Amino acid sequence: MNAAKALELIKSRRSTRKYTDRPVEPEKLMQILEAGRYAPSGGNSQTTHFLVISNKEILRELAVLVMQEFSKMEVTENMYASIANSIRASKGGKYIFYYNAPVLILVANQRDYGNNMADSACALENMMIMANALDLGSCWINQVHWLTDNPVICEYLSGLGLSGEECVCGGLAVGYPDTEDGLPVRSPLPRKGNPVTYAE
Ligand SMILES: Cc1cc2nc3c(=O)[nH]c(=O)nc-3n(C[C@H](O)[C@H](O)[C@H](O)COP(=O)(O)O)c2cc1C
Repeated sequence: MNAAKALELIKSRRSTRKYTDRPVEPEKLMQILEAGRYAPSGGNSQTTHFLVISNKEILRELAVLVMQEFSKMEVTENMYASIANSIRASKGGKYIFYYNAPVLILVANQRDYGNNMADSACALENMMIMANALDLGSCWINQVHWLTDNPVICEYLSGLGLSGEECVCGGLAVGYPDTEDGLPVRSPLPRKGNPVTYAE
């Protein structure tokens, strides 16, 4: 075990929002999925479901549907800023919610399971760390989660293999970063929050 390497991989993980077209090698994708599948789960339930989309046609169709459904919504006061941004961008007509990454992994779980979000978040973080270890960029993508009760999106996802009992808890864009050296940006953002209190 190498504690210093583990901490380095955690601290240097950053969100990538610009990707090249270079496909992700199947072996690397499998390693990322393995990292997600080996995340802990409440009561060892192992109900986290990974829907891997790398087919360009499906990604395009999903992006069009997401834009279409967001564009029907209205921005309201006190709305979470990122949802409001998705709505505004969708009404603009050129919104690609997954940043044109070559792979989008939707992380789903049982709707009626109390730890669905916690288990999915553990899996997502494991996958982000693994992507970083493989010199791949990644970014948590929440748009399909926000639309997880939307009938149009539900129907489309059921055609891809999600059951009606599952909800989308989050998503992960994965791909090679469009940077000068081709590597992910790795400088951590300063930590101004996340306080630690040692109780005495
Ligand atoms: C629960 C959660 C939801 C997020 N949703 C999105 C998203 O939908 N789109 C996006 O571009 N980034 C999303 N992010 C990424 C955050 O914006 C990002 O982690 C944060 O700004 C810190 O930057 P860093 O990841 O580079 O350290 C999300 C992150 C988390 C943990």
